[in-house]
Amino acid sequence: MEKNNRSFLNGKVRKKYDRIAPLYDFIDKMSMPHWMRKKAVSLASGKVLEVGVGTGLNLPLYPDDCDVTAIDFSPKMIQKARSHVERMNLQVKLMQMDVQNLEFQDYSFDTVLATCVFCSVPDPVLGLKEIRRVCKTDGQIILLEHMRSENHLLGLMMDLLNPLFTNAIGNNINRRTMDNIKKAGLYIKRVENLKGDIFKLIVASGD
Ligand SMILES: C[S@@+](CC[C@H](N)C(=O)[O-])C[C@H]1O[C@@H](n2cnc3c(N)ncnc32)[C@H](O)[C@@H]1O
Repeated sequence: MEKNNRSFLNGKVRKKYDRIAPLYDFIDKMSMPHWMRKKAVSLASGKVLEVGVGTGLNLPLYPDDCDVTAIDFSPKMIQKARSHVERMNLQVKLMQMDVQNLEFQDYSFDTVLATCVFCSVPDPVLGLKEIRRVCKTDGQIILLEHMRSENHLLGLMMDLLNPLFTNAIGNNINRRTMDNIKKAGLYIKRVENLKGDIFKLIVASGD
């Protein structure tokens, strides 16, 4: 994707998330069951980077021995995450940053985790390449993502409804995220279907 086009889309998506930040926790309750988050986050270990942390709903779920840094490019989502962190007295470093341009050195983290993020990142392959870069060679990348169904009819319906979601919230319901993960060069170790073939838990590594 061209740089100008990406920064235009970045601005658009960021604004959408800034706008829905006050309602996000309520919307989330209707869309993602809590057990899915628990399952994904329980796999994290060591020095962890969570990308697209949103309002921080995963943060209380990390095992105690994790050293967590979390980023998001929406200032309002980060602001909400910060108030959760302070209220729950969690030890988490929060930073405003774009996953498509991470300010970390190569091989910095044992775990990189994202839940429902690559449906809205303007250039998902670039973002996935970045998390691959910052993950240690023996580290793990944990992705809990929803994506376009492989069922012909359902997939078509998701294509038709997608503009409603991108306009209202900023996410896409018809991304071919498994293909994007492969394009970014991640090595897929495990895939588990959590809700039909739409919500998947993917464990991958950079090498
Ligand atoms: C659907 S929300 C998911 C939030 C959180 N991961 C959760 O599970 O509740 C998507 C989040 O990704 C963030 N995001 C989208 N594109 C991003 C980017 N390029 N860099 C960093 N964060 C991004 C949005 O600001 C938003 O907070």
